[in-house]
Amino acid sequence: MIVVIDGPAGSGKSTVARALGRREGLTYLDTGAMYRCVTLAALERGVDPSDACALGALARSVTIAFGPAAEPGGAPTVLLDGRDVTSAIRTAEVDSNVSAVSGVPAVREAMVAQQRAVGAAGDVVAEGRDMGTVVFPDADVKVFLSADAAARARRRTMEREGTDPRTPGAEVRDLALYERICRDILARDAGDEAHAVGALRCADDAVRLDSTSMTADEVVDAVASLVDGAR
Ligand code: C5P
Repeated sequence: MIVVIDGPAGSGKSTVARALGRREGLTYLDTGAMYRCVTLAALERGVDPSDACALGALARSVTIAFGPAAEPGGAPTVLLDGRDVTSAIRTAEVDSNVSAVSGVPAVREAMVAQQRAVGAAGDVVAEGRDMGTVVFPDADVKVFLSADAAARARRRTMEREGTDPRTPGAEVRDLALYERICRDILARDAGDEAHAVGALRCADDAVRLDSTSMTADEVVDAVASLVDGAR
């Protein structure tokens, strides 16, 4: 069983894919974390984000692995060459460079090969940008999850502030942070949509879901019923 969830930054893919994985017994694959690892390695080693050749070599040389989440239901631990980079890959600096790095075809080639290997090894729910179009074109269930930009920025900001966006009355506290995140996700989406290969795009045969006014649980239920239908 291969389930793919593609969509723009902050649409809720990770929350939904993790919950779905637990519920349906599927291995969760966060492909964005893989591109973030290559970006972090490039920044740390001083590799020029416009040097496609060096980035491709770097992507082929690093080892990316996932370990158990630090807390139940949380994000899996991300290991770059054996080092825990779970937090280090989520900085503003990585956010603003990841789209350029992931736009390099040789970087994508290296990541896609690893992603397909995970899919070949067992049942998977994979989230990203090109899961349904490039990596797993024959997936059993394809979902394209979107939400309007303001809702996505609000969720991301509250996540960073440690607030659960589902709490009644919960609101963004730091407006400057909200605005920065809003600008960042719009810029990242535009960059991701412009990639020559593996661009952010809804597969022709994907089910489109708009999570703007849905709770995460409602989205999980909707995707789970697609999975049940495909079993
Ligand atoms: O999903 P997340 O926001 O962590 O992804 C970070 C970035 O990694 C995206 O903005 C995109 O540039 C890149 N990415 C990609 N293809 C994927 C997953 C992520 O290009 N399948």
